[in-house]
Amino acid sequence: MTEAILLVGGKGTRLRPLTVNTPKPMVPAAGVPFLTHQLARAKAAGVDHIVLATSYLAEVFEPYFGDGSGLGLHLEYVTEVEPLGTGGAIRNVASRLHSAPDEPVLIFNGDILTGLDIGALVHEHETTGADVSLHLSRVEDPRAYGLVPTDSTGRVTAFLEKPQTPEEIVTDQINAGAYVFRRSVIDTIPTGRPVSVERETFPDLLASGAHLQGMVDSTYWLDLGTPQAFVRGSADLVMGRAPSPAVPGRRGDRLVLPTARVAPDAKLTEGTVVSEGARIGEGARISGSAILPDAVIEPGAVITDSLVGTGARVGARTTLKGAVIGDGADVGADNELQSGVRVWCNATLPPASIRFSSDQ
Ligand code: GDD
Ligand code: MG
Repeated sequence: MTEAILLVGGKGTRLRPLTVNTPKPMVPAAGVPFLTHQLARAKAAGVDHIVLATSYLAEVFEPYFGDGSGLGLHLEYVTEVEPLGTGGAIRNVASRLHSAPDEPVLIFNGDILTGLDIGALVHEHETTGADVSLHLSRVEDPRAYGLVPTDSTGRVTAFLEKPQTPEEIVTDQINAGAYVFRRSVIDTIPTGRPVSVERETFPDLLASGAHLQGMVDSTYWLDLGTPQAFVRGSADLVMGRAPSPAVPGRRGDRLVLPTARVAPDAKLTEGTVVSEGARIGEGARISGSAILPDAVIEPGAVITDSLVGTGARVGARTTLKGAVIGDGADVGADNELQSGVRVWCNATLPPASIRFSSDQ
């Protein structure tokens, strides 16, 4: 039915150190690379051909997803020699599209977890006859996003990416990172240089009188660009608050993948996921967290809203709250880490070396 482009070439800077070895869309959420959820949702909406626009750590996508047949999709990969930005990436894959000039092409940011009714967005696009249609979401603080005011018919009146001044905050409607482009509009994006679809293409289209249509949808929506958001998104998938056909198991308080080993008295709650080969020791309490493959949590550790990277170790009785432990890091026993702390990949923290409280 429809084909789609997935933008997966960003550096994932705000998610470091999770993205030091792994591009953002390949970091596991609810037990599988996050991208799996987006691909499965697109497939469920009737998309059959998807082109992945890759750049940063581009080489890891194809070995994992192959030709996409495992997901019932036809996947293609196009790698930028130099990052081309969001608009440049879209233009750069245009030759792989099969759609006719007037047909709709879906485009997705590769870090969005949402319950968007993809079919409804395509329907809105077709009934309004728009050149481009955008999924819009309402958020409390829109400053980290693209602001998209619309008129009473939903027609976009301006596009303000990452507003810098209070006067620019004219709406709480933001670009939610899913678009439908009329195929021929993609061909108008300049080639051979970086282009931002948000800062250049959308404002230029508006200036030239093109019809951009916004569809506000108040379903589940989360940009997984920060560690806190990523951990929350993973937990929401495990608990079924965020919809995905790709969660490898039943929805509930916890998800333990087949080869993980969890001590019988360990407590896993609030959407905690324990990935393949990970081990959870006696009496550990883990809430709302993601334990990635082969990580080891020693007895008595208490982990809340945190992410423990592949092969990392968290020592006995250590507490983590809102922490990110990079792949292969070794956090000794009796540490107390919180408030967005990021322990880098392969770093070693001696026992009892960091505390936030004065007690022992
Ligand atoms: N191929 C390729 N090449 N992909 C890229 C490039 C590039 O040079 N740069 C970014 N991307 C991809 C990222 O991997 C991500 O999937 C998507 O484009 C958006 O980039 P982010 O870095 O996540 O942007 P953002 O979150 O700051 O802002 C964007 O998303 C917001 C919604 O979450 C914008 O589209 C905002 O307008 C929007 O509100
Ligand atoms: Mg983002």
